[in-house]
Amino acid sequence: MNNLLSIDDLSKEKIFYIIEKSIAVKNGNKLYVTMDSYIENKIIGLLFFEPSTRTRFSFETVIYKSKGNVLNYNEKISSTKKGETLYDTIKTMEIYCDLFIIRHPDNDIFEKITKYTSKPIINAGNGSYEHPTQSLIDITTMFEHNKNTNSIFKNILFVGDINNSRTINSLIKCIYKISNSINFYIFSIQEDFNPKIKNFIKNNNIKITRVFSYDECIKDMDFVYVTRCQKERQNLDIIDYKKEMIITPNVMKKMKPTCGLLHPFPRNEEIDIKCDSDSRSLYFKQIENGIHVRRIIMEDILSKTQDFNRIKSHGTLDGGYMYSEEY
Ligand code: NCD
Repeated sequence: MNNLLSIDDLSKEKIFYIIEKSIAVKNGNKLYVTMDSYIENKIIGLLFFEPSTRTRFSFETVIYKSKGNVLNYNEKISSTKKGETLYDTIKTMEIYCDLFIIRHPDNDIFEKITKYTSKPIINAGNGSYEHPTQSLIDITTMFEHNKNTNSIFKNILFVGDINNSRTINSLIKCIYKISNSINFYIFSIQEDFNPKIKNFIKNNNIKITRVFSYDECIKDMDFVYVTRCQKERQNLDIIDYKKEMIITPNVMKKMKPTCGLLHPFPRNEEIDIKCDSDSRSLYFKQIENGIHVRRIIMEDILSKTQDFNRIKSHGTLDGGYMYSEEY
């Protein structure tokens, strides 16, 4: 994989590879724990044009743990403030960086940026469209949960701001890619999906059932995936989270004993913190898995790029710039 801009960039096999390898690394599988790191000595540019806590810090944590280096672009103290274009910023940063990790409010930003640079890019969230690394974390957490509880995945309910949630969009694509027999349900504060994902759903004939209360379906769900109301993306009046959508211990009582409760975070009011001690609440596990999954993604991408230092350290550079696939 050269870039990870969308779930569309991944094959089914690649998704399983990321899930399995991430869980193996997390469980301290010796084969992987002792593996060479392609992140070591690299300079990785984190360009976040939107706020972030977990995504940015999990990438940074992996890079530091793997002895790589971070260049953290901060719009507020960069030349963007002096009128520099995104094109010039990317052309500058590509001189310094081996890999870009980019979050941007524009849904179509990567169509532009991939024209500006051939350096590898990981999408850390583009507008309300996609967030592929988050959905790989979510799916890994779901697999881990099912393995622990010995349960089967058939039904998933998405709750919240369906229209603006890039994590839901990518997760629908990701689940559909690995199995087309999963039933999707939504309990939404809004009518519709973002137009791009709507096309995906239509073109693939994916059936989505809309519910208007938990009682309609919660007892049959294998996973409930809750998202906050993305107030920053609402053009019109702010839509509040409906009271009846809030997950409380009472709602959890109606869930199966093996049902997993997920949330990409940040959390606002949509899950009562009293639910945190329930072993079915998986959101802090998602955060922990974020480190392993993002490590595997970065390693995979960097292992494909030409690496001057690695070639040199393997003694294959004699005079010219030789390129070997093998290091
Ligand atoms: C999400 C995002 O930024 O899309 N958070 C995340 O990266 N884990 C969800 C959100 O902002 O609500």
